[in-house]
Amino acid sequence: MNTYRIAVIAGDGIGKEVIPAGIQVLKIAAEQGGFALDFTELPWGCDYYLQHGRMLDADGVDRLLTFDAVYLGAIGDPRVSDAVSARELILPVRQRLFQYVNLRPMRLMAGIRSPLANRGPADIDMICVRENSEGEYCGMGGRLHAGSPLEMASQTGIFTRQGIERIARYAFKVAQQRPRRLLASATKSNALQHAMVLWDEVVAGVAKEFPDVTYQKYHVDALCARMVTHPQTLDVIVASNLFGDILTDIGSAISGSLGVGPGGNINPERTTPSMFEPIHGSAPDIAGRGIANPIAAIWAGAMMLDHLGERAAHDSILAAIERVIGEETVKTPDLGGKATTADMATAVTSALRR
Ligand code: IPM
Ligand code: MG
Repeated sequence: MNTYRIAVIAGDGIGKEVIPAGIQVLKIAAEQGGFALDFTELPWGCDYYLQHGRMLDADGVDRLLTFDAVYLGAIGDPRVSDAVSARELILPVRQRLFQYVNLRPMRLMAGIRSPLANRGPADIDMICVRENSEGEYCGMGGRLHAGSPLEMASQTGIFTRQGIERIARYAFKVAQQRPRRLLASATKSNALQHAMVLWDEVVAGVAKEFPDVTYQKYHVDALCARMVTHPQTLDVIVASNLFGDILTDIGSAISGSLGVGPGGNINPERTTPSMFEPIHGSAPDIAGRGIANPIAAIWAGAMMLDHLGERAAHDSILAAIERVIGEETVKTPDLGGKATTADMATAVTSALRR
């Protein structure tokens, strides 16, 4: 029997609530699929920071290397600066584990209402392939003359031919496997004449390898508008790190709830573990009340199983999610109901068993 070793970083806020719900579902899926999941909980996050002065152990990233995958909840706490919490945990893990693909499906499921008027599941079905290792998030830059009137800051974006090429190729392959075979590339080459012109050139070059995919570039501002006004024209989106961050918040918002969308931080070469997480944050406003929607975390767990080679288990979890959402009997407050995190997790596990 295959056993997968999973590092669990539930993290902060509702991460601590949705990850146990996800684990509950994943365990049933493993039982049914004839494989085992060995979860190791790592207490990292903002509470850990407040006690130890660091977000994770000094050898934390190295320890993650010994696992098959990482299952992450959410990071962020009002008592700790976001610049510290993200910059010391999520971003270094993504970069140092070579998780250069951030894969984020954005789909309106039957049973959920989009905030966009008159839009149904056929209109909103996209997936973003976000560059996850460089670009605007590379972390280069600094501050000078802190606190003085002459203070300055620089924040440099680094875009490499290799980095753009590999994310573009991954995105074209994703597009190739979807019925519509459309790829939209988010650019801003009208204003960012160095980085985004290179982006356009490299993506156009990779496009030649995929004549069966219809490729179109859009300036990112126009693409934001298009997601709202013509979402049905979008299928796969490839974007730089920052653009992808913004576009995927729009995508999950128009999909009806931030509580549904999952994401995978993937190293396609599999030389290091990939990390799976809900797109939503730690939601301090509702944390501790047990009412967070665990669907995004459960779906992220399903993506993790898919990555580990357990496609059938992924498919059955997704079918169970679709059934629960479609029946509209169990709904957390973000979906307009009164169900708890536990109710929702139980509904998904019983749908899995049906
Ligand atoms: C996300 C988050 C992170 C990001 C933050 C927490 C750094 O917004 O995963 O989308 O910007 O990548
Ligand atoms: Mg984000």
